[in-house]
Amino acid sequence: MRLLTLCLKNTMVSLSLCALVNCTGQWDDSVVAPENFRSSYDQVHECKQSAHPAADYVVTWLSPDAQPVWEALSNGETDVEFEVGTVSVKSQYSDSNCSTLTGYTLMEKTSVAEDAPHGGWRWQYINEFGECSNCDATDGCAGCHSGCTSGPKFFCTQPESP
Ligand code: HEC
Repeated sequence: MRLLTLCLKNTMVSLSLCALVNCTGQWDDSVVAPENFRSSYDQVHECKQSAHPAADYVVTWLSPDAQPVWEALSNGETDVEFEVGTVSVKSQYSDSNCSTLTGYTLMEKTSVAEDAPHGGWRWQYINEFGECSNCDATDGCAGCHSGCTSGPKFFCTQPESP
């Protein structure tokens, strides 16, 4: 009985907290990846420390159409390019187990011809609930990614060497 009361109390506390701070949030329609990307996309590496100074720990997923390119990259072919429509999602975490999600960055391949200064990618930064912090984040992201010169244009993640 005491346990039940405790549980009820905890539920009440978390429910009321959620009402205050909106715990669930909403996956924005303009986000280029579906909310269920964890099951519909391919995860390309385990939790690892990011080379990006502000990202802490990361996991990266690619949309299924990127698979042949990722495979080629993993086989050491660097002269490859993603198809228009390919999406990459990078989840960012504050801890080395990747259990505390802090947000996501996303890239969608558009067309290099149309969007050359940004490497032919659309760039997005969303919070842990999928709400756009900046869903048209071009220059800041592209500027740093332009320094990743091996493999597909402005793509930074490298397959682990075998
Ligand atoms: C300071 C440099 C830097 C900036 C700024 C930056 N990134 Fe990255 N990004 C990286 C690096 C390095 C990686 C490779 C994975 C890692 O080490 O985190 C990466 C990986 C990614 C990935 C996984 C796909 C890939 O290219 O490897 C996505 C998606 C991504 N970044 C999106 C963004 C978006 C969107 C922004 C802007 C909001 C952004 N990045 C800003 C350095 C940067």
